[in-house]
Amino acid sequence: RPLRTLAKVTALAGALASFSVLAEPVEIKFSHVVAENTPKGQMALKFKALVEERLPGEYQVSVFPNSQLFGDNNELAALLLNDVQLVAPSLSKFERYTKKLQLFDLPFLFKDMAAVDKFQQSEAGQKLLNSMKRKGVVGLGYLHNGMKQFSANEPLLLPKDASGKKFRVMASDVLAAQFAAVDATAVKKPFSEVFTLLQTRAIDGQENTWSNIYSKKFFEVQSHITESNHGVLDYMVVTSNTFWKSLPGDKRKIIKEALDEAIAYGNKIAGDKNDQDRQLIIDSKRSLVVELTPEQRQAWVDAMKPVWAKFEDQIGKDVIDAAVAANQ
Ligand code: LMR
Repeated sequence: RPLRTLAKVTALAGALASFSVLAEPVEIKFSHVVAENTPKGQMALKFKALVEERLPGEYQVSVFPNSQLFGDNNELAALLLNDVQLVAPSLSKFERYTKKLQLFDLPFLFKDMAAVDKFQQSEAGQKLLNSMKRKGVVGLGYLHNGMKQFSANEPLLLPKDASGKKFRVMASDVLAAQFAAVDATAVKKPFSEVFTLLQTRAIDGQENTWSNIYSKKFFEVQSHITESNHGVLDYMVVTSNTFWKSLPGDKRKIIKEALDEAIAYGNKIAGDKNDQDRQLIIDSKRSLVVELTPEQRQAWVDAMKPVWAKFEDQIGKDVIDAAVAANQ
């Protein structure tokens, strides 16, 4: 008799447990490395709001900014382990998964963000979203940040001003080659370490967008920022094949639509955010924004563009040509 009661109690507990499991919303973790007040930070929060509004009680999005949960060194590995379901690394950080995306790091490739957008939406650009499929990484869309600027503790007007200096770069061989081309040393470091490296003078400079330079206070530890617009810093929002396939089709559709809308929102605010943050840096008077004359800028182009040829085989000439064509 006690045994039968025990069996009943166990069965009841089991039923209750599975009921409460069913009743719990499914958590989608979205981890990123930047501040909340940036295009990516705002896009992630928009995605959370849209999903929770459209699938209330069923799905819950937890956003972890500022490398709180995972940083540059482990977010993609964590994605493949399903420890996080969405990440949006910069296009420079996928090198271990595909060489094709190195395209976006080629210095002076795109003349402005409109050209970047045009290429990303083109057939060649959309094809790159699938470039990591075999590795289990699913590209869901491109997200803008903006053009990168150089910073250091003295004005960088000509390539020779960078010579002998140490610059932090994202983990990208193209970016390392870009600095080698001006006789500078590139140090690959995670985003979370950049402020301290600059502050302690372990490195001399870095390259980033206005919104990252502002929100992470790099401008407080760099005396000069050169408005070089020499390269693009954009993202790919990615998930794992494991997670994406695990979603019921109808839910996946709603989640993808929410993501597309959140990306459109992020892309819409990215330009303004960078303009505003540039102005805030100028107003702070902590760092001097240096503009280049056309001749000075051309000297950087001449020094850095030869890097393209080194990566042409890995990226594919057809892809590079398609990107160049987007400038028209
Ligand atoms: C960087 O590492 O500098 C950027 O990729 C950070 C980011 O995500 O914008």
